[in-house]
Amino acid sequence: MAKTQTAFFCQNCGAQSSKWIGRCNSCGEWNTYVEEVIHRDNKHDAWQKISSLLPKPRPITEISSEVQDRLNTNNQEFNRVLGGGLVPGSVILVGGEPGIGKSTLMLQIALNLPLKVLYISGEESQEQILMRAKRLGIHNPNCYLYNETTVQNIARYLGEMEPQLVVVDSIQTLTTESIDSTAGSISQVRECAAQLQKFAKQTHTPVVLIGHITKDGMLAGPKILEHMVDTVLQFEGDRHYGYRILRAMKNRFGSTAELGIYEMTNSGLREVSNPSEILLSQREEEMSGISIAANIEGMRPMLIEIQALVSSAVYGTPQRSTTGFDPRRLNMLLAVLEKRMGFHLGAKDVFLNITGGIRVDDPAIDMAVIASVLSSVEDIPINHKTCFAGEVGLSGEIRTVNKIDQRIAEAQKLGFEKIYISKYNLKGIDTARSDIEIIPVARVNELHRFLFKLR
Ligand code: TYD
Ligand code: MG
Repeated sequence: MAKTQTAFFCQNCGAQSSKWIGRCNSCGEWNTYVEEVIHRDNKHDAWQKISSLLPKPRPITEISSEVQDRLNTNNQEFNRVLGGGLVPGSVILVGGEPGIGKSTLMLQIALNLPLKVLYISGEESQEQILMRAKRLGIHNPNCYLYNETTVQNIARYLGEMEPQLVVVDSIQTLTTESIDSTAGSISQVRECAAQLQKFAKQTHTPVVLIGHITKDGMLAGPKILEHMVDTVLQFEGDRHYGYRILRAMKNRFGSTAELGIYEMTNSGLREVSNPSEILLSQREEEMSGISIAANIEGMRPMLIEIQALVSSAVYGTPQRSTTGFDPRRLNMLLAVLEKRMGFHLGAKDVFLNITGGIRVDDPAIDMAVIASVLSSVEDIPINHKTCFAGEVGLSGEIRTVNKIDQRIAEAQKLGFEKIYISKYNLKGIDTARSDIEIIPVARVNELHRFLFKLR
């Protein structure tokens, strides 16, 4: 009888070792190695039959002439994030926190496709999925549900059914008979993903894998999973708000700068094609501490509202709390205000919120953050028809940002009357021709003076 083969795997990064070690050599985590059986039996290889379809080397000119078109998913935001639709044979990993809406998103896409889709679920029963489908209000006889977690059984039906899209909810529930460890373990996840990837490449069927996320926001399972798939999408948002953002973290077939925006409603996810409208809160009276940034997220300009509250610290250590904004970046901006303008913010609590609970990466938001903090400190509201686009440097200078004309155009389209930009961004902009007043600023103290007409 063959001896059972085992190996040790780091549960954090997926590194393999022949013996147990206390500290992982590759990621540095302590006590993460777990023994798993890796005995592989070829009679369980799910794709033996399909292997006869194995492709042969061909001249590149022949291949390019038969490139298949991307599959339109009928979901414009999803298409956009993928780079224009599903590429045949690609494997897409969709990650996100529990309850964020991964299953809802994928079921909705599966139901909206006029193609044969196989939705494999190891997490919910067919009745539960049906309930969700009813809630979404879409009927589609081409969408097949399948409760199965063994890759070998799945392979049998995939061969019979020949679906045009496969959704697996979730990769952590699958197991393969060739490995003895439990579902969700590093070696199972890796092996199941490898087999599904083989299927995708050989049959040109796109496969979407739903993946869990760990407490610290990493995709659960081996890092190698992210290397294996073609596209990694992250579904995120604050659960207390309805807005959800789909970002591409990796994309072999498109840009990772794109993002899709959805709103979770009572009947599924609504695509948000004009994000500025939802990110600006409707308010009647002007309040201090609020400013609006003309941002570009992905390829899309959007206006985002920022709220700051600066108050005297009650406890010894002042609090710095942010939602949707990097707290270290806020500390840096506060240090600039302290050092360059003499504001004593060291003894103040500072709270900063981005409306809608979305996370923002664009550095052009800096000037609006500074403006809202200043507005809260001075307790003077900023006119709500004013917006900002500029990065702030360590010496208090307002730096240039990219795609300034797109930002100005979006602000103008939404009826803003003034936009503050970096003085160095003025080149090439015809200020006289635009309906919106463009105010160039060079430094933060200049911004302060312009905004509050002080000194
Ligand atoms: P779900 O899609 O199951 O999330 P995941 O697969 O990422 O764990 O969860 C969706 C959440 O959204 C759940 O709390 C219920 C809610 N929801 C709606 O608000 N509207 C809907 O139409 C649906 C289907 C779900
Ligand atoms: Mg789910």
